This record gives sequence, structure tokens and C-alpha cells, in this order.
Amino acid sequence: MPLVTSTEMFKKAYDGGYAIGAFNVNNMEIVQGITEACREEKAPVILQVSKGARAYANHTYLVKLVEAAVAECPEIPIVLHLDHGPDFETCKSCIDGGFTSVMIDASSKPFAENIEITRKVVEYAHDHGVVVEAELGTLAGIEDDVKVAAHAASYTRPEEVEEFVSKTGCDSLAIAIGTSHGAYKFTAEQCTRNEKGILVPPPLRFDVLEEVSKRLPGFPIVLHGSSSVPQNYVKMINENGGKMPDAVGIPEEQLRHAAELSVCKINIDSDLRLAMTGTIRAFFNEHPDKFDPREYLKPARANIKELVRHKLVDVLGCAGKA
Ligand code: G3H
Ligand code: 13P
Ligand code: ZN
Repeated sequence: MPLVTSTEMFKKAYDGGYAIGAFNVNNMEIVQGITEACREEKAPVILQVSKGARAYANHTYLVKLVEAAVAECPEIPIVLHLDHGPDFETCKSCIDGGFTSVMIDASSKPFAENIEITRKVVEYAHDHGVVVEAELGTLAGIEDDVKVAAHAASYTRPEEVEEFVSKTGCDSLAIAIGTSHGAYKFTAEQCTRNEKGILVPPPLRFDVLEEVSKRLPGFPIVLHGSSSVPQNYVKMINENGGKMPDAVGIPEEQLRHAAELSVCKINIDSDLRLAMTGTIRAFFNEHPDKFDPREYLKPARANIKELVRHKLVDVLGCAGKA
């Protein structure tokens, strides 16, 4: 089937108590690892491209890689989505250039300005059969070239969501309930330590999510910054010349719970990066004489595939839903 929008996917996910995985893609191996897992697990999927990915790999290469995945996986629905569109022009360029979904992220702007920019993108997108994700609230962490310190992050205010959605006409809403971008989601001061000395992050604000859902019944909610930062890959990186102390993510059982509620899309990028980097670091340590990129990218792609399979089956609950 051709690329689809997320409309049908989100409706089924909402009713079925699961979420669709939205994985960031930057090169061929990442696209292949994700979509091979989704094809084998019969899972619908959102492949998302950031401004940074477009700057790195070029819009056309990324669209063509995704089109190749669509041709290789005709039995699963695939959405091509712009992640964190910074302005109208970038959204327009992706809408005109084959994407089926865009995010306009004006969450750092004042409320009225966020509404105005989002509504402009929605009008253009809907005229072209494309759906729009918007954001209210600010996540901590790094996204593209924007770094938001923990103290500057702010939870979504539930009392604003109805006005925002009705005035903008957006199709889904990303909210801030305590997730955060990147591999260092929380400072040590924000966490407690368990008996093994491992950092335990503060729990997500399910009260905020529930209040938002009450005000927007049936409306798909999105969680960004939802990598779990698998400790096996952090360890693999650190044991093979890397230095990532105290990298900590969102516990998977909390994401599973969010997926059972109104969260229909869960964004995962950093976990893929950790799997790829850990695998390549270990490979080079074991094989200092090797220099063929195919030899180290092959196990990296295989580990991305297994990581995505785990997310589909154990975290998102979307395996078998294609
Ligand atoms: O939220 C941002 C995504 O993880 C994309 O990151 O801008 O480095 O491509 P990037
Ligand atoms: P992570 O950094 O937690 O993977 O979040 C990715 C994301 O939200 C992309 O928009
Ligand atoms: Zn994000």
C-alpha cells in the first residue's frame, strides 16, 4: 500500500489501547532495521524525519529510502512524518515533497502565537491531504539545535488544550508530562537511586495526561522524548571507549501504561542511536583490523531491528495491528 496518514492508525490505536511507534530515520540502515521489525511483527509504523535529518541526509534521499521501505513492506501501513517542524516553510516543503504528516512545533512561542502558526500549517496541510501534530508545553532536553534546560521545561496546562485544538484544527497533540529528549533526560538531582545505585527518574505526570484526555475525549495524544535509554547499550558504549555516565530514560512500563490510555504515538530516537553506537563501538574493539562499513553496519542494523521489535511487542502493544 502507498504511504498513509496517521488518521486511521490513531483511531484504531486509541480504541485498542496501544500506541504507534514513531522512529526517527537518518540513513538506510535505520530505515531497514525499523521496517524489517515492523514487517515481521505486522505493526503499523511512523517513520519521522527531523530538520537535522533533512540537513544531514537530504530530503530526497530520505523520501526515496522510505519509498523503498514501502515497496519492500507492502503489507504494513507506513506514515512519513516531519518531526519538530520549526516553521511554516519547512512544513510546506515536506507537504509539497511527499510527507503524509507534519509536526509544527511552536511550543516555545506564546499560546496565541502557537495557535496562529499551527492554524496556518493545518490549513495548508489539510488542503493537501496531510495531517498535523502540534505541541503544547515544553519538554526538557535537546531537539535539533534547541536545548531546553530542565528548569525551563513546563508541563502542558490541561485548561488550554480544548481552545488550542478547536482553534487550530490540529489532528494530534504532543504534550509535556515529564518526558525529555536525548539520552540524559534527568539530572542526578531530579532522580533517586535504587539499592543498586541506579538512577530512578521521577514518574511521568499521569494526572496531567488524564486531565487532558478528559477534556479531549477520543483525541490522539503524542509523547515525545520517550526513549528508555537501555542500560545494556549504555554499558556497551562505556565498556568500549565511550563515556556516557548517568544516561537515564523513561521506564518502559510507564510508556506501556500511557499507550493504554490516550497516547497514540510514542517517539523514539535516542534508543536507536544508542543501539547503533554501542554495536559499532564493540565491533571496532573486537575487530581493530576491519574497515568495511558493511561489516560494522550489519550488526548495528540487526540490533536496531531487535530493539524495535521489543518496543512493538512489549512497550507499544502494536504488534499484529497492521
Ligand atoms: O527530538 C528530536 C529528535 O530526536 C531528532 O533529533 O534533531 O538530532 O535529528 P535530531
Ligand atoms: P528521545 O530522545 O527520547 O528518543 O525522543 C525522540 C523524540 O521525541 C523525537 O521527536
Ligand atoms: Zn521530539
